[in-house]
Amino acid sequence: MANAAKKKAPAKKKAKKLSNAKYYFTVKNSVKVVQERSGPKANKRVKFLTDSLVKHLHAFVKETRPTLDEWMQGINFLTRTGHLSTDWRQEYILLSDVLGISMLVETINNDKFSNETESTVLGPFYIANAPKYQNGANICLDGKGEPVWVQGRVKDAKGKAIPGAILDVWQANEDGFYDVQQKGIQPEMNLRGVFTSGKNGEFFFRSAYPRFYPIPYDGSVGDLLVALDRNHNRPAHLHFLVTAPGFDKLVTHIFTPDCPWLKDDAVFGVKESLIADFKIVDNPKLAAERGLPNPFREVTWDVIMSKTKKK
Ligand code: BEZ
Ligand code: FE
Repeated sequence: MANAAKKKAPAKKKAKKLSNAKYYFTVKNSVKVVQERSGPKANKRVKFLTDSLVKHLHAFVKETRPTLDEWMQGINFLTRTGHLSTDWRQEYILLSDVLGISMLVETINNDKFSNETESTVLGPFYIANAPKYQNGANICLDGKGEPVWVQGRVKDAKGKAIPGAILDVWQANEDGFYDVQQKGIQPEMNLRGVFTSGKNGEFFFRSAYPRFYPIPYDGSVGDLLVALDRNHNRPAHLHFLVTAPGFDKLVTHIFTPDCPWLKDDAVFGVKESLIADFKIVDNPKLAAERGLPNPFREVTWDVIMSKTKKK
């Protein structure tokens, strides 16, 4: 009896030590300690996301072993990124863009399995309530740049026309700036407009041949690009946001084929299927009919929408 009591005592002590271990922080159990702090009323999705974030951030720290000084530099970088963000400038979105996160989130949420038009980043220069135009209108209000005729049809994946689709388009001007970046310099609403597809899904308008332009690089994100010896330009493109009842919203661009930055987009937005052919048309009669100087550029680009899946 006395022997049995002696044997049990150390076993109890050991069990207590193990159950306490989870409350105290060690490098080895750091993830578990943090994850197990949440209570039974935790929001399931928030807990799932936070637990995964903690797991990956702790692994990052263990792998890279930052000094205290480097960690503080990281905190200061994020603080500056926050201070730079206003209603007009979103430095955090820019950070997500240059790290390829925006494109990753965009792409995994818009996986295309057939011939639908691929999506890409929205970017910070979209504004709601751009002017509504009839097909054929000219959105280039500053008269700069090479004239372009943009035309296409909005269709479903089987090729059936989608009439009444709303196409919001916007782009930078010949000097590489959006109207909202040059208030008082460019006409308001320069190079942006909203069109509606016709009864055969058709749309057409006049614009200017897009040019490449720098993303805002005078802040924390710009400093990071310099430190990484990275390009801060986006290849030339025209943005589209297309909506139609019964179809998924499509956020995309078309890129010009001859831009020197096509393979080095600062925000990784280029997908091969989005590189369009902007051919040069030398036809005075057609130019006059379309209200363009001769010669001009013409791009034909059909928009193929994805049917919204029923839940
Ligand atoms: C844009 O295409 O407008 C854009 C996208 C991401 C960052 C900056 C600009
Ligand atoms: Fe853009």
